[in-house]
Amino acid sequence: MKSYRKAAGVLAGAAVAMGAVIAPWMLVHAERVADQRGGVDSPIERAKEKGFAGVDFSYDLFGGPPGQSTTQLAEQAVAKDRNDKPKVMAEQARRLQERYRLDCTTNSSARMTKGKPQPIGPTVKLKDGLTWDALARMDAEDIRKQKTFPQGFMRLPHVKHEVGGMVFPQEQIEQFPRLERFDVDFDLPACFRPEFPPPIFLTTHPELGDVSQGEVLSADNFDRLFRGLITPVQLDGLRMLVTQFPQEEFNLTPDRKSLKPSLGVACLDCHVNFHTTGQFHLNPDTRPQRDRLRLDTVSLRGMFNQQIHGSKRSLRSIEDFTEFEQRTAYFNGDHIRAAKKGMNIIDRLQVAHMAQIQNMIDFPPAPKLDPMTGRLDRSRADRQEIAGEDLFFGKARCAQCHQPPAYTDHMMHDLFLERFGAEADGPIKTFALRGIKDSPPYFHDGRLPTLEDTVEFFNVVGGLKLNTDEKAALVAFLRAL
Ligand code: HEC
Ligand code: HEC
Repeated sequence: MKSYRKAAGVLAGAAVAMGAVIAPWMLVHAERVADQRGGVDSPIERAKEKGFAGVDFSYDLFGGPPGQSTTQLAEQAVAKDRNDKPKVMAEQARRLQERYRLDCTTNSSARMTKGKPQPIGPTVKLKDGLTWDALARMDAEDIRKQKTFPQGFMRLPHVKHEVGGMVFPQEQIEQFPRLERFDVDFDLPACFRPEFPPPIFLTTHPELGDVSQGEVLSADNFDRLFRGLITPVQLDGLRMLVTQFPQEEFNLTPDRKSLKPSLGVACLDCHVNFHTTGQFHLNPDTRPQRDRLRLDTVSLRGMFNQQIHGSKRSLRSIEDFTEFEQRTAYFNGDHIRAAKKGMNIIDRLQVAHMAQIQNMIDFPPAPKLDPMTGRLDRSRADRQEIAGEDLFFGKARCAQCHQPPAYTDHMMHDLFLERFGAEADGPIKTFALRGIKDSPPYFHDGRLPTLEDTVEFFNVVGGLKLNTDEKAALVAFLRAL
């Protein structure tokens, strides 16, 4: 709370220092936003403190104070955001530097499905002088007391957490300029993101392999690429998935974060080719604003085999998720703003079509797995991978939650990170690990940039006491999934 209030103050101070004109209502507006986003004090009380008693709080960019048009208000808001952007990005870069080693290490033998090198970690930085082995020997209480839980194991904030919203990576914006925001850029380097564009595998046509033909599926090409290959119902579902729907930051109202009016975002703008390129936003399920979780876009591969959807929402069908994704997640769980900005209501038949095509998307091939068990075919795997599998199902206890064939248990689990002095995340969906080499960064918020980081994380959090060889073996097994 304090920091939001301070931010509003600093902002106002800076504007005044720069000789900018700042109307009292703007100040109040910033404070009011701060209040909605994390506050406990009454905004009316605070306004009285500041001598603004009697101010009407009912306006925002949809209807400002008398004498100012929506266009003027929007222009002021855009100018302020653009002015702030370098500072916002520098602050996030500093935060990432503090948490991670971002000089990207790769190894030509570890690649994603289409060949992009996987990032090799661990990248998470440790407190001065500490080693991974020393950290793993400490128990939760010592870690909490001595504050040695790595920053990178804690929640990763949104690049502009007090505002949030969808953020797209640069290589995607180059191809689709409509996805550019004027207030923020993507934060994590390209090395730690999935390949772009990712391949697409259809459950109905395994013999074809990747059916994307190296293109990003969009309104321009979906018909050419898929007509005749999938049913008319699925093609209609796909049409909806590449159609732009209005969303909080991308819409036709002046209160948006794209310079030009926007028709919105398409489902496959984030779930590029039914996978992900690391696009992120804030979850709609939590309040106040500062406690909302950053969400790293998940892959839609292999959803046919998963029973719960969303890291917190636990929706039980892809139909429900499809319907509510754009009605709630697009608008921060706020139907009132959604109505103002043009929420699109899809009917149940369209939802069924959209769900059907999502259910046709397979995981990428994993030639080292035995089709009967979903575990390693030991005649094809090497010794390190086999050692990793033994650990996964044995000493490291991963299979407690990640079970074949998709390597999930369709449940949510609470890892109780507050034991280590981190914020409590509560229960989170056990994400599927099939095809996991294609999906950095890891965890719901992308806080762990590499698979090595995930193994170090569970080694500490699970008290597993794995040695260096064992950790390397576990990673080798994860790469084979
Ligand atoms: C910001 C980009 C973004 C857009 C646009 C988007 N999604 Fe998502 N999607 C996500 C994220 C992030 C998650 C993970 C949500 C969570 O963990 O709670 C997700 C989760 C899902 C899931 C659940 C996956 C699972 O098994 O847990 C489905 C299904 C889904 N999206 C479908 C859609 C559909 C359909 C649309 C279009 C209406 C859409 N998404 C648009 C980012 C996006
Ligand atoms: C108690 C259940 C549980 C156990 C045991 C467990 N996991 Fe997980 N795993 C989870 C949950 C829950 C998440 C999602 C956490 C989050 O996003 O905050 C997860 C996420 C992951 C991810 C990232 C998935 C993604 O898509 O981002 C990897 C990789 C992973 N686990 C590997 C392992 C390994 C390796 C082990 C054993 C050393 C292990 N897990 C043990 C529950 C578990």
